[in-house]
Amino acid sequence: MSKRVLVISSSPRIGGNSDKLADAFAKGALEVGNDVEKINLAGKRIEFCKGCFACQTSQRCVIRDDADLIEQKMSDADVLVFATPIYYFEMSGQLKTMLDRGNPLYTKNYKFREIYFLSTAAEDDESVPKRAENGVQGWIECFPNAHFAGSVFAGGVVNKGDIIGHIALTKAFELGKSVI
Ligand SMILES: Cc1cc2nc3c(=O)[nH]c(=O)nc-3n(C[C@H](O)[C@H](O)[C@H](O)COP(=O)(O)O)c2cc1C
Repeated sequence: MSKRVLVISSSPRIGGNSDKLADAFAKGALEVGNDVEKINLAGKRIEFCKGCFACQTSQRCVIRDDADLIEQKMSDADVLVFATPIYYFEMSGQLKTMLDRGNPLYTKNYKFREIYFLSTAAEDDESVPKRAENGVQGWIECFPNAHFAGSVFAGGVVNKGDIIGHIALTKAFELGKSVI
């Protein structure tokens, strides 16, 4: 049975390195028959969480913007994929803001079970994405029915297009194909 896969690409650079990694994962997941949707946070209207906790009783955010709609898509997906550039050894602020705005999910009967993490950075050392990965794992810990399912990191990529030919693209494609 195919799964509903939601790929959230958080770089402000559409077609940039982490976005290409997201595309490779999406292509692999699609190839094995999944229902795949990719969302770029770039260009979306996403306000910060107000910390009002209204969502914990209403199960919906009080802010009507794109994050409100993305959170609902997150809830209905079986698989979530987060793609981010590494910014100061962390995930992008755009992705962190979206995870915070996912707060209504906390009290919901969310469907997602598997979470994947894709990242790119200028520095080429496997330790570089670890803090960001830990951040995502912390988020996952708040959702006991979900688990961290895998990650791909592409190091040594700075400018848009640097990732072309990088082995990480093949790894992301293969990881996408493993979603069955
Ligand atoms: C604000 C900012 C902070 C960054 N911080 C880091 C960092 O801490 N370590 C690193 O190796 N690269 C860092 N980079 C480089 C990006 O991670 C790298 O260019 C990445 O491939 C960009 O991905 P994108 O094309 O998907 O936006 C930073 C870039 C920016 C713009």
